[in-house]
Amino acid sequence: MQQVNLGIIGGGTVGSGVYEALQRNGSLLASRLGADVKVHRVAVRDLKKKRAAAIPRPLLTTDWSEVVFDPQIQLVAELIGGTTTAREIILAALKLGKPVVTANKALLSAHGEELFAAAQKHGTNLYYEASVCGGIPIIKSLREGFVGNRINALYGIVNGTCNYILTRMKLEGADFAAVLADAQKLGYAETPPDLDIDGHDAAHKTGILASLAHGFWVNPKKIHVEGIRHVSALDIKYAGELGYTIKLLGMVKPIADLKNRKPQIANRKCQVQVSVYPTIVPNTHVLASVNGVFNAVFVRGDIVGDALFYGRGAGKDATASSVLSDVGDAVLDLKTGAKNRLPAFVPHECAGAVAPIGEVVSQYFVRLNVVDKPGVLAKIAVIFGQSNIGISSVIQPESEEGESVPLIFMLHYATNGVAAKALAKIAKLPAVKGQPVMLRVENFE
Ligand code: NAP
Ligand code: HSE
Repeated sequence: MQQVNLGIIGGGTVGSGVYEALQRNGSLLASRLGADVKVHRVAVRDLKKKRAAAIPRPLLTTDWSEVVFDPQIQLVAELIGGTTTAREIILAALKLGKPVVTANKALLSAHGEELFAAAQKHGTNLYYEASVCGGIPIIKSLREGFVGNRINALYGIVNGTCNYILTRMKLEGADFAAVLADAQKLGYAETPPDLDIDGHDAAHKTGILASLAHGFWVNPKKIHVEGIRHVSALDIKYAGELGYTIKLLGMVKPIADLKNRKPQIANRKCQVQVSVYPTIVPNTHVLASVNGVFNAVFVRGDIVGDALFYGRGAGKDATASSVLSDVGDAVLDLKTGAKNRLPAFVPHECAGAVAPIGEVVSQYFVRLNVVDKPGVLAKIAVIFGQSNIGISSVIQPESEEGESVPLIFMLHYATNGVAAKALAKIAKLPAVKGQPVMLRVENFE
């Protein structure tokens, strides 16, 4: 049987997971691919470090170039993360015509176009299934499964760490910092975890999915990103009382017209919302029940209709499964001599653009802290009214007059620009204490 030598760079959570998975299912993979995948070298930073996988000492090196430039290695997996050395590694391997598998969404987000062009130039390929949603084969599904569909909307819970934190805050009333520490221990979080909790990791992934769905490579700087640091126990509680759950949602959809809320998808120059923010999701929607480290992507294609993908979004085994899927594709390409059989990214509708968040139309959950005295509610309602924003419901827990009390509004559709201006005016009212909280509501229409 043909043997393909794999060089792995990175022996941490994902690298160890890939090594272990190959030990466990290597012969199954060989029988399916008709080629035996052998781990030839593994590069790490610290040879003395204790690892989850028992990687034999002779395979280890601290010099990644010993992996990339080893003539016996035909396939390279970059699993170190970061955007500097990882970029250098991938470009060096592609230049040698070696296919590369990566799980590095931060790198793809920042340098995807350059790396895909390099793969094409050197007649090889760059595979990245593990970069989005851990074990869910969403890249393959968008690229291959939905090749005949226009993607009208895509909503994703794409960060396992944030979903794990929000779930435990909601179900157990757990403290943010303690749950984050657990997510780090479990190997879910990035280094540093700010990438997760500030929404950047989700933005990297959402940008990759948006690029595949809409055919133009999304500039990460154009993605509107808000993380989960400011989501409080109070917001979770009041959203729950109204029948909603807060999820960090990546969203990709042509922006809607405020009047009839029909997305403007008729022309190819469509403006696409590409964003990540904590979102109020109705408990009746399936995404509200995606809990813990699980991820889910809800895709609406113009031919297929609605489709849902669900699975573990982080952790060594789930991610290793996706790396092995890419290893499988790369091995088949090497076996058949196919060059760019499934190119990493094919630009196709380059006239599209990411819409500025101010033009995006949403519904809103607003929480204010106000002094309970006559006329306060009326003053706030006037500002919403003057901004042409309708109020769909109001909650105010009972309180003593003169006390500070939360005041929660559910608002009808408005552009984000108009809603933000109205809220800025409301924040200046003397009876409004502290910063108002505004979360967008998604009804998946
Ligand atoms: P990790 O646990 O921190 O592991 C990183 C590995 O890279 C470590 O083994 C480290 O060596 C090695 N390394 C770092 N710099 C190196 C260098 N210059 N030369 C050689 N080795 C080097 O990270 P991870 O969680 O496995 O993540 C790896 C990649 O997968 C990242 O791009 C991440 O975003 C992505 N990813 C992670 C997950 C997940 O659930 N963890 C899921 C999907 C994608 P030492 O061990 O000696 O320090
Ligand atoms: N830190 C990432 C997450 C790892 O929590 O989703 C998987 O990409």
